This record gives sequence, C-alpha cells and structure tokens, in this order.
Amino acid sequence: MKQKLIAGNWKMNGSLAANEALVHGVQQGLAQALGGKHAQVAVCVPAAYLSQVQQLVKGSGIDLGSQDVSAHEQGAYTGEISAAMLKDFAVRYAIVGHSERRQYHGETDEQVAHKAQHALSAGITPIVCVGETLAEREAGKTEEVVKRQLAAVIHTNGHCISEIVVAYEPVWAIGTGKTASPEQAQAVHAVLRAQLKAATEHSERVHILYGGSMNAANATELLAQPDIDGGLIGGAALKPADFLTIIAAAA
Ligand code: G3P
Repeated sequence: MKQKLIAGNWKMNGSLAANEALVHGVQQGLAQALGGKHAQVAVCVPAAYLSQVQQLVKGSGIDLGSQDVSAHEQGAYTGEISAAMLKDFAVRYAIVGHSERRQYHGETDEQVAHKAQHALSAGITPIVCVGETLAEREAGKTEEVVKRQLAAVIHTNGHCISEIVVAYEPVWAIGTGKTASPEQAQAVHAVLRAQLKAATEHSERVHILYGGSMNAANATELLAQPDIDGGLIGGAALKPADFLTIIAAAA
C-alpha cells in the first residue's frame, strides 16, 4: 500500500520568525508522530518564503511545496512564478486550482490544466484541487463539478496523469470547521478514482487527498476511508501539535 501524504497549505500566513518556529516544531515531533511508520509530509508555503523554508526543511524528510504555479513558461507575465523557478528552490509539489484561486482570481479549468502541465514538465507534482460549492452540492451537482474539473486536467495531461496528486476540497468545508463526513468524502473520492482508472492503468498510484477542516480530531476517521490517501491541511497545519497529530493518524 502506498504511504499517505499529508500536505500543509499555509495559505497567506507566516513570517520569517513564525515559519522557523513552525517548521522546527514539526521537525522536533516528526519521528515520534511517525512512530517508526511512514507517511509523506510536505508544506506548501507562500512564494516569498520558499527560499527560507527550503533551508529549514533540508534533511528533515519534509518536502517543500508552492501554492500556485504559472500556466506559462516564461516571459511577460508580471507577478507570476514559473515551474522552472520553483524547481530552483527544490519545490516538489505545486498546488493548482485551489478554490480560493478559482474564486478570487477567476482561474478556469483550462488554466488549472495548463498549470498542472507546466509543473509536470518541470518535474514538480501538481496537487490538483477540485471541489463543489455548497450551492452545487445542494443542487445535486457535486459529481458533475468535480468530474468536469478533473477531466480538464486529464485531457491536457493524459499520458502522465498518474503523476499528479488530486485533492478533493469541498468549498463549503474549507476554513469553516464543517468537515465532510468520512462517507461523504469517500463517495466523492471513489468517483475521482473511477475517473482516473478510466484514464490510466496506474490510477492506484495517484494520491487523492481530502481537504476541508481536517484536524487532529477528525483525521483518523477520514484517513481510514479506502480512497482517502492523505490530507491537504489548512488551519491545522499552522499548529505543530495539530499537524503532528494528523501525521500520526496517517502513518
Ligand atoms: O488547502 C487546504 C484547505 O483549503 C483546507 O483549509 O483550513 O479548512 O483546513 P482548512
């Protein structure tokens, strides 16, 4: 069975001092949390701190991630950061299509697919976020929405689709303290797994993470679901003790 992946998404939080304290806190408790077992751990940090956190996590077994990547290779795209630039800082994962970027920056399924493509061609694993809003869930459109979002990425990245990570993040569960129940999450993960299976014979390799108010209290139950291969953690990734408890639940 593959190791679970626990990735923290710090969002727009942190400072030089806070980052140092947070990474040190996680490092100090990591071996104990894993208890001789295994889980992959990553932190996706604000771009301004990639260089700092690259140094902080060196040799710790914690991988570095970004929260976005440009859909373009290089050139006149003010403010954007290319996959090749991220690679210079040993970035292993790049979140793409987070609902906050879809919502506040108008990112489309096609742009997200191109972001994933640029990450993959630079040797960075895209963490492709999909998820429905509350209105979409209430309208019975959950399956249709997540399948449409993933289909765009499959369409653009067909041959290397088994190299991506998918994160199911129901928008209504993000930062709200309202988690999807393990059954609700598993049902959507199974849909995504089936979609990946139709696209690649290596679908079992793909980590499908759950994100949305995952915390120290609910992680064990969520991570016990057959198609939940880890978590993308927001708020709880900012507290070493909580993040470590989630890592322990994944090991
Ligand atoms: O990407 C992680 C995320 O959106 C979940 O955030 O704070 O609900 O864990 P949070």
